[in-house]
Order: sequence, then C-alpha cells, then structure tokens
Amino acid sequence: MKKVILIGYMGSGKSIIARELAKYKSIKYVDLDDLIVENSGMSVKNFFIQKGELSFRKMEHQLFSEKLKDKSGIIISTGGGTPCYFNNYKLYENDNCISIYLKASIETLYNRLNNGVNERPLLANLNENEVKEFIAKQLFERSYYYNKALKVVVVDNKSVIEIVSEINDLLS
Ligand code: S3P
Repeated sequence: MKKVILIGYMGSGKSIIARELAKYKSIKYVDLDDLIVENSGMSVKNFFIQKGELSFRKMEHQLFSEKLKDKSGIIISTGGGTPCYFNNYKLYENDNCISIYLKASIETLYNRLNNGVNERPLLANLNENEVKEFIAKQLFERSYYYNKALKVVVVDNKSVIEIVSEINDLLS
C-alpha cells in the first residue's frame, strides 16, 4: 500500500482524519507534530518559544524525511507548515505517496481555531481580528504548496466519517 500524506492548514482536521482513516482501513498512522513532541520532549508551543521556528522546521523536515523512507504503507498527518519548508512537498511527489489536501475555507478555519489560539504558537498573542487576517494571508501564501497535492478534499460542513469515506473512495 502507498503512503497517504494528509496536508492542510491548522484546524483542517488532519490529525483526527488520519486517526479515523487509519482505524477504518486498519493501517498505521503517524502525526508529525506528535513525533516532534516525542523526539524533542517539548510541546510544539514550548519548542517554538525555546528553540525558535527554524529549529522546529529542521526537526520537522528530518523526521518527515525519515518517515517517508519507511517501507510500510502508513498515513502521515503533517503539520500545517510542513509542505512549505525545505521543499518538503517534493518528498511526496512520487509513486509511493498519495498526498491529499484537506481544504477548508477561512471561515471554517477561523471558527475552529479562534478558541484555542494560545496553544498554537503562530496564533498566540493575536486578537480576534488579527487571527482572521493572519489565517487569510497565510492560507493565501501557502495555497501554492497545498495545491500541489495529488487530491483535494473540501472539508467544510462535513463530518469526520463523510471525509474518511470520501478519502477511502479516492484511494480505491
Ligand atoms: C504549524 C502547524 C501546527 C504545528 C506548528 C506550526 C503551521 O500543526 O506544526 O504549530 O506552521 O501551520 P497543525 O497544522 O497540526 O496544527
């Protein structure tokens, strides 16, 4: 089986979809942020504060590259920035991988992210208006990378099971 790479902005549901899709298909999954937390012994937030974003991006790149070398089929849930740094998107542009962009509107992302900004290093310290502006701007910048995915699944107003079943259809 090929590797399934889930990409998309923070709050698009990558982690939960990876977990549920893995259950549905009885295959393994890994969450790249969790891997970084395990390897660094720090939360993502503390990693950003103590070591800075560049160190985070380096470790993200290293662990992502290693996981992609793994021979088994696996679902990988990336971080929202993963495709946009160190040419990470090129690592899954090959026949062993199916990349899927979980595409959410600014409105959906804002509604999901606005309550938990303090746990998200990129959004912490922004007020409500700034959060929306930040999401809109960054989503625009990152769309170039996200749209390089092989498949796109729009997630707005859909349940987890609907999205999982849509992805399952794309994989068969
Ligand atoms: C980031 C997204 C986060 C995490 C880090 C940076 C980003 O992952 O990797 O806070 O640059 O968009 P999620 O998309 O899983 O929240």
